[in-house]
Amino acid sequence: MLELAEPRLLRKAAFIGGSWSGGLTEIDVHNPADAELIASVPDVGASGAMAAIDAAEDALPRWTLLTARERARLLRRWYDLITRHKEDLARLLTIEQGKPLSESRAEVDYAAAYIEWFSEEARRIDGDVLPPHVEGKRLFVFKKSVGIVAAITPWNFPLAMITRKVGPALAAGCTMVLKPSELTPLSALALAWLGEEAGLPAGVFNVVTGIAGPIGEVLTRDSRVRKFTFTGSTDVGKSLAAECMKTVKRVSLELGGNAPFIVFDDASLEAAVDGAIASKFRNAGQTCVCPNRLLIQAGIYDQFAATLADRVSRLRLGSGLERDTEIGPLIDDRAVAKAERHIADAIARGGRLLTGGSRPNRAGSFFLPTVIADVPKDALLCREETFAPVAGLVRFGTEAEAISLANATSSGLASYLFTSDASRIWRLSDVLESGMVGVNTGSISTEIAPFGGIKESGFGREGSRYGIGEYLNLKFICLDVRAETPVDACGPA
Ligand code: SIN
Repeated sequence: MLELAEPRLLRKAAFIGGSWSGGLTEIDVHNPADAELIASVPDVGASGAMAAIDAAEDALPRWTLLTARERARLLRRWYDLITRHKEDLARLLTIEQGKPLSESRAEVDYAAAYIEWFSEEARRIDGDVLPPHVEGKRLFVFKKSVGIVAAITPWNFPLAMITRKVGPALAAGCTMVLKPSELTPLSALALAWLGEEAGLPAGVFNVVTGIAGPIGEVLTRDSRVRKFTFTGSTDVGKSLAAECMKTVKRVSLELGGNAPFIVFDDASLEAAVDGAIASKFRNAGQTCVCPNRLLIQAGIYDQFAATLADRVSRLRLGSGLERDTEIGPLIDDRAVAKAERHIADAIARGGRLLTGGSRPNRAGSFFLPTVIADVPKDALLCREETFAPVAGLVRFGTEAEAISLANATSSGLASYLFTSDASRIWRLSDVLESGMVGVNTGSISTEIAPFGGIKESGFGREGSRYGIGEYLNLKFICLDVRAETPVDACGPA
């Protein structure tokens, strides 16, 4: 039952040009813990997406021309409202996504932190004066907003994956059309309502709800959209990016991972097990930075396996709203079926089930947290992103073998490394092929640091002082200052 202290946070309309709009049809939003209908929201379709781009286009000139201080103030007000409504936002998030309330509260904080961070960064968008290449010239670099941004965000972090796109976009003077996952649109709409309450002008932030295909086609094809940012699966990201290239948009992609989690014999067993629980079982294993392959050195392998299995078998499974729940449901039955497929494959190839391995005896898309030992490196668990609370353990002997196993993937988002050897920390941090490396920790995400991957995990960085650059174009101005030369001889292109 969804009870909110501020009932207006539950929005059942799309948000286009400052108006709450309906659609021709609706899509239902269900609670993954019991499949109950929470609400229906409009499917705005292609015409709604087009209207949202029109609105973003209308709002752009005035928004871009505001001073950075004015934009920063509005973002700060938005941040204040998000934190003020933290408990309601967390409940909404848990009901539509499934994660435990404690994790939803942490996500609201994490999401708000991006708005706060970029409200501060808005005032630090500066330029450069370069030493001239010839006498009599002056060279300047300005940073200009890229213009209209379209964003498509996933269901696993229904708030934070939005704020780390909209925060820098708005701070940089862009306007945005957001298409949240159809599985979790309610958090996005609540965020839009809070933006409206904070005083964001109409059309600056638009939220279009509905079935992804037709809306995505408009957002990727319309030539007025100058930047496209996506978090989601690698396959979908590749095809959206290909479409964006037809109008040569700037693109940021935060795609799937297949993170290695490497534990050496000299690691602290306690820290490694804590790290595995924190990173592998966060959001029931449904994060892009979740370890997918736990590579454990032979000397510590049996102890690590037994300790991890014991801890995992004691994780409390339940609805996210139930007190003390540590593992909520998976997002839907397809996710459960994938976990089952990966486990069956690992066992067929010689893996040993240490705990879990099946659906519990309750309604909803739940899956028991699972540990499987002796998973061979060609198992699905090692080759594909599992996105479920299933930890597969692979034994290795030498450091060279660990590096080779870790890098044997087309993904490159995160890696984790547990060791007490300082030189090894630097050696491995250097050669692991990923955008982020956690050393002796399973928790790496923060608004302060650049989040993003290499290889087929995508490109572009979110958060941090680097994140805002994704929403800014560089403009070079060459000025001839010799007295006899007219000043417009080499002015702006
Ligand atoms: C993701 O799963 O894409 C985001 C995880 C995070 O920000 O920690």
